[in-house]
Amino acid sequence: MNRAFNRDLIAELDALRSAGTYKRLRHLTTPMDAHVRMEEAGDVIVLSSNNYLGLADHPDVIAAGVEGLERYGAGTASVRFICGTLDIHRRLEAKIAAFFGFEAALTYVSCWTANEGLLPTVGVAGTTLVSDEFNHASIIDGCRLAAAKKMRFKHADMADLERCLKGAEGRAFVVTDGVFSMEGDAANLPEIVALAQKYDAVTIVDDSHGAGVMGATGRGTIEHFELGGKVDILTGTLGKALGGAAGGFVAGSGALIDMLIQRSRTQLFSNALPATVASSALSAIEVLETHPELLAKQRENVAYFRAGLERLGFRPLPGPSAIIPIIVGETAFAIAMSDRLLREGVFVTGFGYPVVPEGSARIRVQMSSALEREDLDRALAAFEKVGREVGLLAAAS
Ligand SMILES: Cc1ncc(COP(=O)(O)O)c(C=O)c1O
Repeated sequence: MNRAFNRDLIAELDALRSAGTYKRLRHLTTPMDAHVRMEEAGDVIVLSSNNYLGLADHPDVIAAGVEGLERYGAGTASVRFICGTLDIHRRLEAKIAAFFGFEAALTYVSCWTANEGLLPTVGVAGTTLVSDEFNHASIIDGCRLAAAKKMRFKHADMADLERCLKGAEGRAFVVTDGVFSMEGDAANLPEIVALAQKYDAVTIVDDSHGAGVMGATGRGTIEHFELGGKVDILTGTLGKALGGAAGGFVAGSGALIDMLIQRSRTQLFSNALPATVASSALSAIEVLETHPELLAKQRENVAYFRAGLERLGFRPLPGPSAIIPIIVGETAFAIAMSDRLLREGVFVTGFGYPVVPEGSARIRVQMSSALEREDLDRALAAFEKVGREVGLLAAAS
């Protein structure tokens, strides 16, 4: 290791520590669930996972993963167009396409690589990618890799989106998160779709936080707004509600999927989703379809926890999703507050700059159907205690 480079790294890390913005990895020794055992803090309630439906350790999902591993081994040890594609990938992709209401789908090892495969493939020179400023980092990076002209509209500002569409060159693609991960709000898909139609633009929705959570049957933000058939391209992750392991997908027309197989670099030059993960993700979608009570409980939990926070005097950002952010101010404050909550047995993460704008650091609660009422009450008691200690709530009289 080059010593001067290493010294520079250490100095930078020290600066992060002194600023109170250094991130520590927490070490878990049990599966993701309502509670986990953490080496640093013991048994804690989890309010910081995307395990929205509690499927990460669902017995069917585990059994399917084991069966996938036994049946197919680890994988084909190469990329799909060179070494073949497993029938479990085909089955999973057919399921994703049918579940979300698209002609076809293609899986990737993550939604990050799905977005990075899709955006440069469609956003060729002479076209324009129009992106909400709060879109996920994988969309931002995917746009950066594209030869298209890039335009950003102010978050959820439809007049600004229209300004971009008026200034677009060639075919325009409007790209948006379905549910914004740091705000918990849903994209204004009805207006986005209407504007896209007006300007003959293509709509791309990344519904990583909406898939399995939003809509009457968990089919996501498109279903939430009853816009089935009106969005051109959907991307999403299998690493959150839909199994919690890893994996991402693009769903769209048959021609789009065929073109991604020909041209998308993260498909052409990167291995397929491991068979065990493909099998467990397929099972997770089947569990979601056959157990609507999971979604119902997740929604009850969201409503209960939101109401509890508000009763205590917190002002969580409004939104229809499973994400409940509480703005607390500075990054170091948010991190210190989440450390303090962890000592009270609640695992919930503080996010600050550069993930969110300076001064709007937040504690982000993510609600799961795995949590019981008793967990929620204990977590609310911890929020009350810590909220008073750090001065976010008035001191107890
Ligand atoms: C909107 C959005 N897109 C993409 C991703 C990345 O998903 P994956 O973990 O599958 O790469 C995330 C995860 O945080 C996300 O929130």
